Amino acid sequence: MKKFDRSVIDVIGNTPIIKLQKVASHVESEIYVKLEYMNPGGSIKERIAVYILEQAIKRGDLKPGGTIIEGTSGNTGVGLAMYAAVHGYKTIFVLPDKQSIEKINNLRAFGAKVIVTPTNVAADDPRSYYSVAQRLAETTPNSFYANQYYNLDNKMAHYHSTGPEIFEQTNGEFDVFMCGVGTGGTISGTGMYLKEKMPNVKIVGVDIEGSILLPFFKTGKVVEAKSYVLEGIGEDIFPDNVDFSVMDDMVEVNDKESFIMTRQLLTREGIYTGGSSGAAVVAAIRYAQQLKEPKKILVILNDSGNRYTGKIFNDEWMRNNGYWDNTLNVTISDVLSTLGKGNDDVISMSDENTVSDAVKILKQENISQIPIYSKGNLLGIVNEKNVLRSLFEGKISLGDNISIAVDRNFELVNINDLLDKVASNLIQRKTVLVEKDDKIIEILTDIDILNFMSNRNF
Ligand SMILES: Cc1ncc(COP(=O)(O)O)c(C=O)c1O
Repeated sequence: MKKFDRSVIDVIGNTPIIKLQKVASHVESEIYVKLEYMNPGGSIKERIAVYILEQAIKRGDLKPGGTIIEGTSGNTGVGLAMYAAVHGYKTIFVLPDKQSIEKINNLRAFGAKVIVTPTNVAADDPRSYYSVAQRLAETTPNSFYANQYYNLDNKMAHYHSTGPEIFEQTNGEFDVFMCGVGTGGTISGTGMYLKEKMPNVKIVGVDIEGSILLPFFKTGKVVEAKSYVLEGIGEDIFPDNVDFSVMDDMVEVNDKESFIMTRQLLTREGIYTGGSSGAAVVAAIRYAQQLKEPKKILVILNDSGNRYTGKIFNDEWMRNNGYWDNTLNVTISDVLSTLGKGNDDVISMSDENTVSDAVKILKQENISQIPIYSKGNLLGIVNEKNVLRSLFEGKISLGDNISIAVDRNFELVNINDLLDKVASNLIQRKTVLVEKDDKIIEILTDIDILNFMSNRNF
């Protein structure tokens, strides 16, 4: 049992990497995720808490019995509080009021003093959580301000821990590293290490709509920050730990799609993680969709879903805040696999046939629609209702060429398109033909979509 003579601090890190099985099945790239919520306190931030404190102790900035102070969105607080519990320090945390109550309660349960400040004030406002934390650090005797935004030990923690761990686990056999950017520590430190070992790796940051980081990265301009609900990613300041030079690209996501993906990660992959992880997966899929060839993408999932039971994992909160959209992120491929459709080629005809030939095929094959091609090009659809009506009204006769009965009101959609695209075309009464590898593999109807939705309990 000697090998177990260790504290909870010693088992931080060594988190597993797995491959997403379903939510990214519509992209050719492979998306792997590193489950940082499997750290003992539930997030990646324990890595930086330990490193920052151990460096402070080495430098003599944190002394025995001292008070650790931090302005934290919660996760860093848990890491610092864990270290404080094991090594006997006091803690004071300052949190903006948009943080989930679970995070606040969790910190208080550690015995920490928690001060909640308003979210919607500028960073330099004396009421902001940055300013309040700073003031407390200046006025509390024998205190140490962890200062994860400006203390470069945050970045170095990832350079010494997350980066080498990923490289050892994967042998560097991936092409793109992606993670959310908040303080910037994860992307800058991990990115710096990986670039030293893998000169061709692409480091891609994930930002949230409303943050000032991505606009600055893309345009060099400082825009005005707008509010967003997602916790952990995005800033209204430029922390010293954000090193734009390490990043090859940045991808922007919004609150709604991030929250919906967070829910899908749980229901479809069994991955119980927080909103910033949903954001990172949405961004990874978006990044993969614009690649010319498939790549292996490794994404950090920062924290546990436990912290968001009152928000993202609360149906009422999702509905009340307008985040509940049943079809967002569902692809046509998801619909076909749920319905067990799209496995056979669709029966089609050339425009050299007659109306009578088409009627025979409709009857023989027990189908209601046939795509009609003219010299290899899709002309439109013959549908039993239209044929019946036209025959009945005497507008066509059985011996006529089939092209006379062709309905050109159709839309071709790709198997990787979102369900949204099908629904909006069906509502406009267009016929929706699903294409895969330039072949039509299915014709989707209203009842298919209704079946899918009832199957998924929408
Ligand atoms: C849940 C969550 N996601 C993402 C991040 C961003 O990581 P970093 O601060 O290293 O940029 C944080 C940081 O606070 C976080 O708590």
